[in-house]
Amino acid sequence: MSAQIIDGKAMAAQLRAQIKTRVDAIREAGGCVPGLAVVLVGEDPASQIYVRNKERACKAVGMHSEVYRLPAQTSQVELLALIDRLNVDPAIHGILVQSPPPKHIDESAVIRAINPDKDVDGFHVINVGRLCTGQPGLVSCTPKGVIHLIKSTGVEICGKVAVVIGRSNIVGKPVAQLLLQENATVIQCHSRTKNLADMVRLGDIVVAAVGKKNIITADMIKPGAVVIDVGMNRTEDGLFGDVDFEAASEVAGYITPVPGGAGPMTIAMLLQNTLEAAARHV
Ligand code: GUN
Repeated sequence: MSAQIIDGKAMAAQLRAQIKTRVDAIREAGGCVPGLAVVLVGEDPASQIYVRNKERACKAVGMHSEVYRLPAQTSQVELLALIDRLNVDPAIHGILVQSPPPKHIDESAVIRAINPDKDVDGFHVINVGRLCTGQPGLVSCTPKGVIHLIKSTGVEICGKVAVVIGRSNIVGKPVAQLLLQENATVIQCHSRTKNLADMVRLGDIVVAAVGKKNIITADMIKPGAVVIDVGMNRTEDGLFGDVDFEAASEVAGYITPVPGGAGPMTIAMLLQNTLEAAARHV
């Protein structure tokens, strides 16, 4: 069997086009154009690329974009003062502080300082709490993209066994919560899981979010399963996911490639969250 490839790049482009249409309509109606502020502290090369991509995507859909590139020696007090200003800025509906910050900055204090209703990353404990208790709130971008990708296959999530490999705060845990909300039976695997292969084999839906190239091999995949690979493992030979894509494609029903699967959905969901935050503000 050969799996159908889930084209995250095309899906993200379609979502961005829909968002642009809505932003254009808001502008034409004289409404408040959604605004996103992205804050980068330091010169981490990968973070610089991510921030540039977010800025471009924001402008491409006609949103208001502000990017604050602060020197690595910026103090936590200075960063918190900027967040305080953005929290009350009426032109800004979403605030994102690129992670990881330099070591002298306490990331959780920074996230805590962001107004939860402008927390387009969905990282604030208020939003995490809302997610876990089924209340409306801003949901972390990559997990939200994962659910879109699964739904795009037409495979019903309700009643299925979903195996999530990874328990990070930004992907594994929120993905598991979202799948639970969709009425899947969720198995969360992590570094201490015994018999990982046996667990993964139960999954009608498999979400790999570990950060280890090829940790999920073809023999672990249930025939016909939906496989979403959130891994982003950079090697000298290029970018790879957590799933052995070539071999797993022979077993899975649907599978995302890396690159071009879950990655492009993250920025599309960031724009979606900014739009939602702006709508809620109004
Ligand atoms: N660094 C890598 N991914 C992310 C993300 O989704 N949000 C933030 N704020 N920083 C990141």
